[in-house]
Amino acid sequence: MLAKLGHRVIGYDVDEVKIARLSRGELPFREPGLPELLREQLAAGRIRFTNDAKTAVTESELLMLAVGTPSAPDGSADLRYVDAAVDTIARHLDGPKIVVTKSTVPIGTNRRIRRRFAELVDASRTPVAVVSNPEFLREGSALRDSLHPARTVIGGDDPAAMAKVRSLYDGLDAPCLMCGYETAELIKYASNGFLAAKISYMNEIARLADAVGADVETVAAGMGLDPRIAPMHLKAGIGYGGSCFPKDVDELLAMARRHNLRLRLLTETKRVNDTQIDWFVGKIAAVRPIAGSNALVLGAAFKEDTDDQRESPGIRLIEKLLRLGAGEVRVMDPTVRAAEDLRWRRRPGPRLLARVRVVTEGEDAARGIDFAAVATPWEAFRRLPWRAWAEAAARPLLFDGRNFLDPAEMREAGWTYYGVAREVGG
Ligand code: UGA
Repeated sequence: MLAKLGHRVIGYDVDEVKIARLSRGELPFREPGLPELLREQLAAGRIRFTNDAKTAVTESELLMLAVGTPSAPDGSADLRYVDAAVDTIARHLDGPKIVVTKSTVPIGTNRRIRRRFAELVDASRTPVAVVSNPEFLREGSALRDSLHPARTVIGGDDPAAMAKVRSLYDGLDAPCLMCGYETAELIKYASNGFLAAKISYMNEIARLADAVGADVETVAAGMGLDPRIAPMHLKAGIGYGGSCFPKDVDELLAMARRHNLRLRLLTETKRVNDTQIDWFVGKIAAVRPIAGSNALVLGAAFKEDTDDQRESPGIRLIEKLLRLGAGEVRVMDPTVRAAEDLRWRRRPGPRLLARVRVVTEGEDAARGIDFAAVATPWEAFRRLPWRAWAEAAARPLLFDGRNFLDPAEMREAGWTYYGVAREVGG
């Protein structure tokens, strides 16, 4: 995105294989539109990749930290990669630099980065300004989100450095908020926490809608028309996943604990999310006992248009069905070719694993299944041979965990359709 805006960009990583692939124009993950943009910018000479830290540091004016901040066992963010990146930069500093923190980092981290530089380098010779610049893109729509952001947030206390970071985005049409470090850091976490809470709220409303016979899709549509509520992230389903919401909610809770606070809404947001799969599987089990049933799970990625399976509700569903004694669990996902491509949360033992079979559309994927369950709303799933599958299935029961397929069409194709509180009677 920065290259597209006309900047000269160097991508640095410690992973040599990744760097080699990127240099050849191969993206190591799936993201719509990005392979084309990468090749375009490589050809234009505006972006290059290296695993030589000295080149990366000495040839750049601004150094953006975009490393992972995974969850430590207690839920707090693990900052070892941030620290390692800071150390690498410090080792090669040859003049004044601006270090920009893009990674989602707990509150206080930008100050910690600044302190670390103060310890490691001579500020009179090689001054380093640290600026917080959180990222708000979504996987699967990263390019669109980056080029059309809702806002830019810049946190720090060095106005010149902050203005320089702001100028990076001059080509974009978005309001820019300048604030202090802690405020910028909290905007990022509070936004993700709120979006996660919105989803959990709708998942709870879905449980109620299901109990009283209301249609949660129409409820969400009706709510979303109120501009104070807004229609995004109101979709009920089998819970949120991915590398951000679960981890960031955990870190918010851990952060609050460190300050002797309890965030009640977020505690429940997490609890609702952690139990939404149980609720959904309970709905399946009320129609068809799981033990001994053959299932087809559609979707392993945590959302559509990505191959990322981190904290994926689809993977949770597969694991749960296996542990409840399902016979064969077939899995279909456009980004999964073999069982080795599945990224388990809790890896099942060999006996359970033997029951997993990755299938593709071309095969007779639905032959003999007792039910199918949609876990990821991949557009391609709309075009599956549903009619032929209904005939091949032992029982044409379809549980749509994402309220994604058209109930009338599915019924017409021969399925008994159950959504998430989608309509009375299923
Ligand atoms: C999320 C935020 O939306 C981004 O703004 C943020 O920059 C990013 O985290 C991050 O911190 O890096 P992402 O996790 O990539 O983005 O994707 P989302 O579209 O937010 O979806 C997250 C999960 O919630 C997915 O499992 C999705 O299926 C689920 N979801 C989303 C719902 O169940 N219902 C909804 O209405 C929306």
